[in-house]
Amino acid sequence: MTSDSKRIDDLRAQIRKHDYSYYVLDDPSVPDAEYDRLMRELIALETQSPELITSDSPTQRVAGSPLESFKQVKHAVPMLSLSNVFSLEELEAFDKRVKDRLDNNERIDYNAEPKLDGLAVSIRYEHGLLVQAATRGDGNTGEDITENVRTIRSVPLKLKGKNIPRQLEVRGEVFISKKGFAQMNQDARKNEQKEFVNPRNAAAGSLRQLDARLTAKRPLEIFCYGVGLVEGGGLPNDHNAMLKQLKQWGLRVCPLVELVKGVQGCWKFYEKIQQLREQLDYEIDGIVYKVNLKQYQDELGFVSRAPRWATAHKFPAQEEITLVNGIEFQVGRTGAITPVAKLEPVFVGGVTVSNATLHNMDEVERKDVRIGDTVIVRRAGDVIPEVVKVVLERRSKGARKIKLPKKCPECANEIVRVEDEAVARCIAEFSCPAQCKGALKHYASRKAMDIEGLGDKLVDQLVEAKLVKDLSDLYRLDEDTLSNLERMGKKSAQNLLQAIEKSKQANFAKFLFGLGIREVGEATAIALAEYFEYDMKKLMAADEETLQQVSDVGPIVAKNIVQYFSHEANIRLIHSLCDEIGISWDVPESSGTDSAGILSGNTYVLTGTLASMTRDQAAQAIRAKGGKVVSSISKNTTALVAGEKAGSKLQKAEKLAVPVLSEQDLIALVNVE
Ligand code: IVH
Repeated sequence: MTSDSKRIDDLRAQIRKHDYSYYVLDDPSVPDAEYDRLMRELIALETQSPELITSDSPTQRVAGSPLESFKQVKHAVPMLSLSNVFSLEELEAFDKRVKDRLDNNERIDYNAEPKLDGLAVSIRYEHGLLVQAATRGDGNTGEDITENVRTIRSVPLKLKGKNIPRQLEVRGEVFISKKGFAQMNQDARKNEQKEFVNPRNAAAGSLRQLDARLTAKRPLEIFCYGVGLVEGGGLPNDHNAMLKQLKQWGLRVCPLVELVKGVQGCWKFYEKIQQLREQLDYEIDGIVYKVNLKQYQDELGFVSRAPRWATAHKFPAQEEITLVNGIEFQVGRTGAITPVAKLEPVFVGGVTVSNATLHNMDEVERKDVRIGDTVIVRRAGDVIPEVVKVVLERRSKGARKIKLPKKCPECANEIVRVEDEAVARCIAEFSCPAQCKGALKHYASRKAMDIEGLGDKLVDQLVEAKLVKDLSDLYRLDEDTLSNLERMGKKSAQNLLQAIEKSKQANFAKFLFGLGIREVGEATAIALAEYFEYDMKKLMAADEETLQQVSDVGPIVAKNIVQYFSHEANIRLIHSLCDEIGISWDVPESSGTDSAGILSGNTYVLTGTLASMTRDQAAQAIRAKGGKVVSSISKNTTALVAGEKAGSKLQKAEKLAVPVLSEQDLIALVNVE
């Protein structure tokens, strides 16, 4: 062996090991830069000596030129489908059928696996080398997608380890993660291309590209869940151990699979995974239970193209089809008009849904939703239901286009849609009852002025009875007026008046937040309060340039603030709140933060859910040590504190190389004396 070919072997082995750690174990073993160096060196050596290139080299994932069409592949062992159960009763009936057929009354062990929502593929290895990959097709014959599957980095081109059968056909599900899907659609929007409807469709489209170079650009992944043909070697005789063996050979298996005991174990697993579902970064639509013992599987066999030894326990559908009966335009706190589709009630995501947001008019136009259309509605977890798309084949002639009304449905004032902005707004502000209600609810909310007893229903009553027309009217209410309201006794009227009175002793940042200036959130309000030294006049006089000096304030927020204070009505409101009514606040001695604190000069962003405290508490703890908390990440951010379910901020931090702290890191940080 020449020294080049030895080095080539060595590099390939190293790269395979890193690929395995990164793509299969999700646990990177070297920094990207080191990996890139190894890859570059291998490419250079292979370019020098092309005769040494082998098809299993990590450099050979991407094919040279597109195919004319896919070849047909006959499956040596048919690719079956699964029967379904939808309830505990049906699951019990399945378990009983298994036992009856095995003539066995003992508890059955099942291997429980998430049912992945992607596409089934079969991948054949000969002597440990990937030789062919195929789609499921009709179960007997699929399409040859070898070139495409080779581009999936979690699919090994060569198996590792011992006792690899001469022929091994692995089966699994190819999918795109939720994160990968979001990224694909973001890119599609940027390039003005059509967006994908869901991760499954995106995966299907990516896998069936005739040009594997395109597939290589898509974030496809795999989880293996079974085998087809096996020759010249053996496999463990239970399913769970078999999956472990696949893992040892370098194949990726879903980490959530679990051996469970009887129906009870299945049910517990189902409930556990259903809880986890939203947090998982890939879509699943149920659980698959498989009789664990191979001997039992063989005894049970198949019926009408589905195994008797396995079944799918489906989660309630997250997408359903229904009709758009009408449209309603809702008016938000800032006057934003949101089109909401009124639907023929439909059971989806575990609840009956009769409204779905259409977000804004751009969205209505992009999706081309019309009244009378048949649409796909989606409700995932606690997310508000939305219209995914129109089923165009079912559009009737009478379907009517949705038009933005000229007048606000709440106050009949004009609606304007600023060019380049998706959102249309009612211009009436406080004279629009919907905006007035929204503004009052926001002002009274816990994170703003925290006026106890001033709930949503009461706000609606006060506005509808025209007792309150703006924030300052709250402070003009009296006991008689209040106790005359429906469901309002003397005592609660007194309590409410007391709470309103108490709110006059305010916290400046909370007051500022409570005013509801567009895009001024809690963190921005605190930053503004500190920068302008708790002086309303200074803040009101600031121009956009000055405002942008404040951490957390960018050009858009600055513009919103200037715009807010340029309205005569807002100036009058603040004047009456502060000067007539007497809302006041303390000016903290050290401007609210401990400037000598160990975190002084540092800026943090919080994201995700923390386990031992709320984000508010975390922010307070940071401020108490002199640190700043802002809401958006920039390269000047000291660190991102990320809890559970951290989303785009985490990605942004990684992109900007901003350090990421865990909850434990934060606790350690703020506990230092
Ligand atoms: S086993 C012999 N396990 O579900 C049993 N299938 O309706 C064959 N699927 O085409 C399938 N996750 O695409 C099995 N953990 C899993 C699965 C799974 C998803 C899909 C697969 C198959 C379909 C069957």
